[in-house]
Amino acid sequence: MKFFVDSAEIDQIAELNDLGMVDGVTTNPSLIMKSSRDIIEVTKEICSIVSGPVSAEVTATEAETMIAEGRKLSKIADNIAIKVPLTWDGLKACKVLSGEGNMVNVTLCFSANQALLAAKAGATFISPFIGRLDDINIDGMDLIEDIRVIYDNYGFETQILAASIRTVNHVLESARIGADVMTAPPAVIKSLASHPLTDKGLAAFLADIEKTGQKIL
Ligand code: E4P
Repeated sequence: MKFFVDSAEIDQIAELNDLGMVDGVTTNPSLIMKSSRDIIEVTKEICSIVSGPVSAEVTATEAETMIAEGRKLSKIADNIAIKVPLTWDGLKACKVLSGEGNMVNVTLCFSANQALLAAKAGATFISPFIGRLDDINIDGMDLIEDIRVIYDNYGFETQILAASIRTVNHVLESARIGADVMTAPPAVIKSLASHPLTDKGLAAFLADIEKTGQKIL
């Protein structure tokens, strides 16, 4: 499973990237706002650090303007994935931009039928939002499962990018179902390393070695 970092914070992306944990990055307008950076500048900086796909989202709502914005974003670097919303206009933009050889990430997907349309429009990635479905008491994992089945039934090559990941269980379940990629905030990726029994075991080992008075260095 590929790991994308859902962030526009350079330090956090760089830290995870140095550890080999980053196969790509996703940003969105809210993350750009949080970073207080210019969208073009910060995206360029991210692309200079990470070699995998870096999603940058259009902000227009009409297909023609989305396409123009997408073309501008694609010039930032070779590894840009243009992110478009799952609207009818977004699908039109997806078809044109992917036809021009760009990676396209279709975002804000909340149903399997939407995912089917995105695949037919040539999307490189489909981003089903798990956490936001959970927020309204709909199991986001069912959506990932449905899309996996449908894409496999027909051999669609669009990659399932599990998004809006909020918990370690979202990561585990997405991996079990076979999502191709998951994107999560840096804190969620780091928390995958945590286990109370690891902490407890380590504390016991350290206490025991201290009793021996030995030191390695
Ligand atoms: C990723 O592409 C999405 O923008 C992101 O995962 C949304 O996450 P949120 O629902 O926690 O804002």
